[in-house]
Amino acid sequence: MSATNKKLVVILGATGAQGFPTAKYLLQNSSTLFRIRAVTRDRNKPTAKELVALGAEVVEADYDNEAPLAAALAGAHAVFAITNFWDKASYDLEVAQGKLVNQLASQVPNLKSYIFSSLPDGRKSANGRFQNIIPYNAKAAIREDLYTYPALASITTEIFVAFYYQNWVKYQAVFGPLKDDNGTFVLSMPYSPSTRFPSTWADDTGVVVDSILRAGTKYYGKTVTLATELSPQDDMLALWANRIVPRSLVFRKPLKCSLRFADLGIKAVFKQVSAQEHQKRMSAGMPDHLAVAVTELCENLYHGEKTFGDDKNLISARDALQMPAKHKQIIPSSHKLKSWEEYVKEEDWSDIL
Ligand SMILES: NC(=O)c1ccc[n+]([C@@H]2O[C@H](COP(=O)([O-])OP(=O)(O)OC[C@H]3O[C@@H](n4cnc5c(N)ncnc54)[C@H](OP(=O)(O)O)[C@@H]3O)[C@@H](O)[C@H]2O)c1
Repeated sequence: MSATNKKLVVILGATGAQGFPTAKYLLQNSSTLFRIRAVTRDRNKPTAKELVALGAEVVEADYDNEAPLAAALAGAHAVFAITNFWDKASYDLEVAQGKLVNQLASQVPNLKSYIFSSLPDGRKSANGRFQNIIPYNAKAAIREDLYTYPALASITTEIFVAFYYQNWVKYQAVFGPLKDDNGTFVLSMPYSPSTRFPSTWADDTGVVVDSILRAGTKYYGKTVTLATELSPQDDMLALWANRIVPRSLVFRKPLKCSLRFADLGIKAVFKQVSAQEHQKRMSAGMPDHLAVAVTELCENLYHGEKTFGDDKNLISARDALQMPAKHKQIIPSSHKLKSWEEYVKEEDWSDIL
């Protein structure tokens, strides 16, 4: 297929945790079908340059600036849309940005697929106990706005990506284990150590988006969830503590014995704290309203499998969650989603040790 016949997929947030691996996955696996336009505010970022090297067109646009954003979306067959609450940590700004993306996407002639990375409405879980999970509330407002464009809504597939494995590294102070004065890593959370909640390698968003695109109209109007692990938190912590290797102990040549992944004595404990204690710890590093938001976000995780809600229309990308849906396993069975154990072995943990 010539380049001009290939369908144009526009990836917003293309340098981010979901957008970058999505662009990369499509470039590496579906370049015969799709050409990729990756959108960033800064084409000089290493990730933007990597996408160019892989064959993407990289364009600059900001969700706050209508004309360049409209130009970035022009001619799209499909759009992968994501907004980033944490960029400015503002509900109003994220909602305004999401609304602009919806509006401009609704004006793209012949758009055939709108894949919107969102999150469940936390206010509807736990009998309304959690009203302040701002990133979730913002996604709900953007979703509500999206449904004011019936034609756009009719070609929309939402995806709910579970808690990233990468959160421990990316947001250690909020989600990861922290070293105490005795050298023990403490994972302090307002839920029980046996809590199982969905988590995943954010990079696996790529195969999910590719599968949705290849399925044509099949997932219009559906919400696809990406979740890989449901192990208890204390098991995940123990696995981490037993598998990581301090940088100084990584040998340059492969070892013939299994020492590399042996238990090297890193101590880690799970500490369950009250919501008030958690909020107090969070308040040391962020404004109070965000401390409340992340505390409620963590508390809400105690729902385990129901973190995504129990909407009958949810489709699990893989059947890890045993969702009550008809179209399970939308990902080809040949693709292995990355387990926590594999991720732990591969990640560079030096920044958080
Ligand atoms: N952490 C989790 O476990 C998790 C799970 C599910 C969903 N989420 C949601 O994921 C969202 C963040 O996505 P991510 O994890 O991919 O974030 P990320 O890794 O921080 O990347 C953010 C991306 O958004 C782009 N972006 C931000 N503000 C922009 C703007 N004003 N105009 C244009 N592009 C902009 C950035 O582009 P530039 O290259 O221009 O910087 C970047 O590519 C959040 O809203 C969060 O609620 C997080």
